[in-house]
Amino acid sequence: MLIYIGSDHAGYNFKGVLKDHMEAQSHEVIDLGAFSEDSVDYPDIAREVAEKVYENHASFGILVCGTGTGMSIAANKHIGIRAASCTSEIMAQYARTHNNANVLCIGERILENEEDAKKIVDVFLGSEFEGGRHQDRVDKMMAMEKEGR
Ligand code: RB5
Repeated sequence: MLIYIGSDHAGYNFKGVLKDHMEAQSHEVIDLGAFSEDSVDYPDIAREVAEKVYENHASFGILVCGTGTGMSIAANKHIGIRAASCTSEIMAQYARTHNNANVLCIGERILENEEDAKKIVDVFLGSEFEGGRHQDRVDKMMAMEKEGR
């Protein structure tokens, strides 16, 4: 899989851990920053990842900040993005199977440890959208961005 990953300073440590973890599974992982622990604004990184995921429809995005909240709000402002902030494996599973999420957001200050983050990523990347009735609901969500309200 092709995966774009990004973080702010608060998610910088997990970003490196998750990048190594996914590369060890032979995923292609493109790091869009931050490239140090210096303070950076999470919407800037969310934009970078969101634009790449939109351009490459078969790709996924992973965004890490302190809580996952800011990244998910920012990413969901972008066309074609369905970002889900997940704190558990079951949330990651349903984000893919029901919501067809294409961006996973994680909070480094929220999860107990990096092993939990790895498990959430594994479930997210290993789950497939079920389609069917869920497709109708996703279509309704995506129509909202065209309506602009
Ligand atoms: C940065 O301090 C923090 O606000 C950010 O990482 C994130 O948690 C925002 O939602």
